[in-house]
Amino acid sequence: MKNNGDGNPLDLRAWLDQIRSAGEVHDVIGADWNLELGAISELNVKKEKSPALLFDEITGYPKGFRVLTCSTSSPVRLSTILRLGVEPSHQNLVQKLRGKPAQWQADAAQYDPVVTTTGPVFDNVQRGPGVNVLAFPAPLWHEKDGGRYIGTGCSVVTRDFDSEWINVGTYRIMVHDRNHVGLYMVPGKHGHIQHEKYQRAGKPFPVAIILGADPINYLISGIEIPFQMCEFNYIGAILRQPVSVVTGEVTKLPFPSAAEVVLEGWVHPGDERTEGPFGEFLGYYPGEEGPAPVVTVERIYYRDNPILLGSPPAKPPNDYSYSKAVMRSALLFNALTAAGVPDVANVWAHEVGGARLFTVVAIRQRYAGHARQAGHILSQCGVGAYLSRYAVVVDDDIDPANLQEVMWAIATRTDPEIDIDLIKRGMGSRSDPMSLAYPYGAPLTSKAVIDACRPFDHLKQFPLVAEASKALQDRVREKWKTIL
Ligand SMILES: Cc1cc2nc3c(=O)[nH]c(=O)nc-3n(C[C@H](O)[C@H](O)[C@H](O)COP(=O)(O)O)c2cc1C
Repeated sequence: MKNNGDGNPLDLRAWLDQIRSAGEVHDVIGADWNLELGAISELNVKKEKSPALLFDEITGYPKGFRVLTCSTSSPVRLSTILRLGVEPSHQNLVQKLRGKPAQWQADAAQYDPVVTTTGPVFDNVQRGPGVNVLAFPAPLWHEKDGGRYIGTGCSVVTRDFDSEWINVGTYRIMVHDRNHVGLYMVPGKHGHIQHEKYQRAGKPFPVAIILGADPINYLISGIEIPFQMCEFNYIGAILRQPVSVVTGEVTKLPFPSAAEVVLEGWVHPGDERTEGPFGEFLGYYPGEEGPAPVVTVERIYYRDNPILLGSPPAKPPNDYSYSKAVMRSALLFNALTAAGVPDVANVWAHEVGGARLFTVVAIRQRYAGHARQAGHILSQCGVGAYLSRYAVVVDDDIDPANLQEVMWAIATRTDPEIDIDLIKRGMGSRSDPMSLAYPYGAPLTSKAVIDACRPFDHLKQFPLVAEASKALQDRVREKWKTIL
């Protein structure tokens, strides 16, 4: 980390002003943290056009202690977060993103965060016995949740045990009491790997939990950034400006100098408490409650009138399924190209599968075996392997983001016996609702690669599509616009 210099403090409020002037924020006054914030956000995001929601005067909490939800669930909001201009068109946003993740990853090393000693995050500091996590309006998001989750759209900063690598990951945070919160990290996630090293050494694990900032923070900490790369560097590459950070008093971990609320503390060796269940992104409460590491909070830093950034998952579409689909589709496109798959026209990671279980790539078929190559890599590449289930390959006359077209291709261009390859004992997850029916002793799953392209050896004879040509469509649309 560098000292001083001009950095970007990841100020949520600067971004809020920008999207408010674009008509993308609704204020909600007087809702209850007890299920209302969750249900309102859930219903909001299922509307045709859904604004971001800024909740204030939440039942039992002082005016000014706010919660923001649905921050990433529209093209305008997502494009402004990604600094791609104010882009109301989903198609244009996807187009503008093409190739960007590879560029950001390549540039990240140039954008070490810069350290400053001051920032609005230090407006208020709670220390020792003054620490009170319950002072903030953590919602009970879903009816069957095991507790109040203060961290959903959050970013958890941790330091490696035997290197200087700082990781920033989005992991859910449940409130236990005034100075304890639960930290749920899936095995294999970078924070989990770092925690295991401290556990083995019998040392406390330092943690800083950012509960609100410019949504670019949780957008990037919530996707797969390469092992040993710091997400603050990656964010710097997107912003073309380093992130401005301050460091915590007790752990010296960095966090954005304009963060809204930060909990700082330690996971002491072996310290676990019951956590969950929690309504999750595949649309289920996967599994029962279970033990999860506990963070003992020693400091809370927060801005005047703080805003918690909430991003509650649920049956899709949910708060972050749109942004996950857009981001993961861009990452998968990059991964396929980097693996040498030519002529990839488009990729889509569908919201119905939490942007993981059901992915589709459209290719311009160039050679025999091209389609299987694309499908297997889509299913198994680094970004794709976790919880992939159905990887579908279609020709480039099919829009991979359009489920109707994709299912038409599967229905009409496959011979199930030869066009569905099965991969056994692939990477699964305990979040998978099907895991309880599987015979494995570990989070494994089988995977299907569906080749729904026209068979390469019969391309010339394959029946023509019975649909008006583009030229004819354009002509009649123009002439008959009153009825079409
Ligand atoms: C809103 C949101 C909540 C998430 N919650 C969790 C969680 O509770 N536990 C987890 O392991 N991953 C969770 N994820 C997924 C991880 O953030 C994601 O896999 C990320 O790549 C983890 O960071 P890492 O690669 O540095 O480990 C969540 C993602 C989002 C966007």
